[in-house]
Amino acid sequence: MKIGAPKEIFEGESRVAMTPDSALQLQKLGHECFVEAGAGHAAGFEDSAYTKAGVTVVPTVEELFKAVDFVVKVRPPEMEELGRLTKGQTLISFFYPAQNKELLEAAEKTGANVIAMDMVPRISRAQKMDALSSMANIAGYRAVIEAGNNFGRFFTGQVTAAGKVPPAKVLIVGAGVAGLAAIGTSTALGAITYAFDVRPEVAEQIESMGAEFVYLDFEEAQTDGATTGGYAAPSSPEFREAQLKKFRELAPDMDIVVTTALIPGRDAPILWTKDMVELMKRGSVVVDLAAERGGNCELTVKDEKVVSENGVTIVGYTDFPSRMAAQASQLYSTNIRHMMTDLTPGKDGVVNHNMEDDVIRGATVAYEGAITFPPPPPKIAAIAAQKPKEKAKELTPAEIKARDHAAFKKQTRDQILMLGIGGALLLGVGLVAPASFMSHFVVFALSCFVGFQVIWNVSHSLHTPLMAVTNAISSIIILGALMQIGSGNFLVIVLAALSVFMAGINIFGGFMVTRRMLAMFQKS
Ligand code: NAI
Repeated sequence: MKIGAPKEIFEGESRVAMTPDSALQLQKLGHECFVEAGAGHAAGFEDSAYTKAGVTVVPTVEELFKAVDFVVKVRPPEMEELGRLTKGQTLISFFYPAQNKELLEAAEKTGANVIAMDMVPRISRAQKMDALSSMANIAGYRAVIEAGNNFGRFFTGQVTAAGKVPPAKVLIVGAGVAGLAAIGTSTALGAITYAFDVRPEVAEQIESMGAEFVYLDFEEAQTDGATTGGYAAPSSPEFREAQLKKFRELAPDMDIVVTTALIPGRDAPILWTKDMVELMKRGSVVVDLAAERGGNCELTVKDEKVVSENGVTIVGYTDFPSRMAAQASQLYSTNIRHMMTDLTPGKDGVVNHNMEDDVIRGATVAYEGAITFPPPPPKIAAIAAQKPKEKAKELTPAEIKARDHAAFKKQTRDQILMLGIGGALLLGVGLVAPASFMSHFVVFALSCFVGFQVIWNVSHSLHTPLMAVTNAISSIIILGALMQIGSGNFLVIVLAALSVFMAGINIFGGFMVTRRMLAMFQKS
């Protein structure tokens, strides 16, 4: 098939749906690649780079649409772009069919197929095609960078000759893909980071990233994420009140607030109200990632940066991924390439638009002249759905004592059994083997036993350093082997040489592992 990427016509859009790298991968699937002249320029991919990657650069958009079977785009198509699509062609791009009914009807009339990258279901198998997540990841990162750009202080605390600088305090509201990326960036920059989400299952993730989960003193049954496609369900008014109360407590302390809270298909909930902005210190920053859907902050102005009366900067840009166009294009084009991989099962350039496939069906919003949106729910449960852990049964002190006693008795019984078997085996060998062999054998068996017990009780994470320390043991082996290597017996020489070789691997391997581990803790 012939796949082509036109230049994005949406004002200010710098991304491109095909990069030279993704084109190389598409060609490996048996496809031919085309790009409109200058399509990748704003993202840093010149026409010459495409030509070098075997892509045909077409001078005009009209020629591109005529030349290809698949059109790949970033932004939802404009009407004029849809007008160029013909029956039998397939368009792959963001489309937002629920919000773009008119566009969907226009697409239906063209008879072309439309695959909406924003409709890829959030199931494990489809993660590699999840363009919303790739873009949200970039947006989360960029939101913190943008906040830093508008914030007059360091993120990290410092003790300098000129005085002590406290670390910035950052609150991330909503710990989905963008929120987690923002948490990662904020903690990496050294800020004290707090995060809140209505889904309690993300608390562990938040804490493992070095941020503090903001708990609410409120009991509310959470909806199983699976039923809502891995997204949160709307919270009750009482819950919202408790949430706002907590935010009001936090507001005077926070230097930066990044809001990413959203429930798909709804307007963004107002979570950072005007009075919270008023409670914030002069010079603080709010970055509202939900600006596109009305914003989480009451004072957000879409696509603009405004400063409140008390000097708080509120950023409502909706083009964060486009502000990192090279990275965003690289990730987005990879998502598209994975979609093409699923559409080309034979890797022979022949497309099989399999409407039985959960992912392809879910993302296809128009097919052979008919609207196929909304899709049926995917057969596989959403990835974000996690069964709540069963609460461990609380035991009384007497029950705990009885449990420990039973475990101790079992352990002693096992040990006596093992000793019995070991003794019987030793006796059996001793009956037939010479006395000189037995003394060596007993030492060997005991060292195996002691060595095993020592290593078994060391936690797994410490095994690598432990192995590095066995260098010392290897040295003893080498000494023994060197003393034997001059022996006149050929077999002894061979065995000694083998011991030197294997202990050598252990010693050099050990040093290399240790070096790599130490390098992990060194700042370059
Ligand atoms: P997501 O669905 O993965 O995450 C949203 C999170 O908000 C979920 O964890 C959800 O539980 C949480 N949430 C929902 N209601 C909440 C509430 N009342 N309080 C606290 N948390 C709540 O979405 P994703 O992909 O992380 O995107 C986040 C936002 O970023 C969306 O609004 C999206 O449109 C926006 N976005 C903005 C971009 C830009 O350039 N400005 C680019 C990409 C995404």
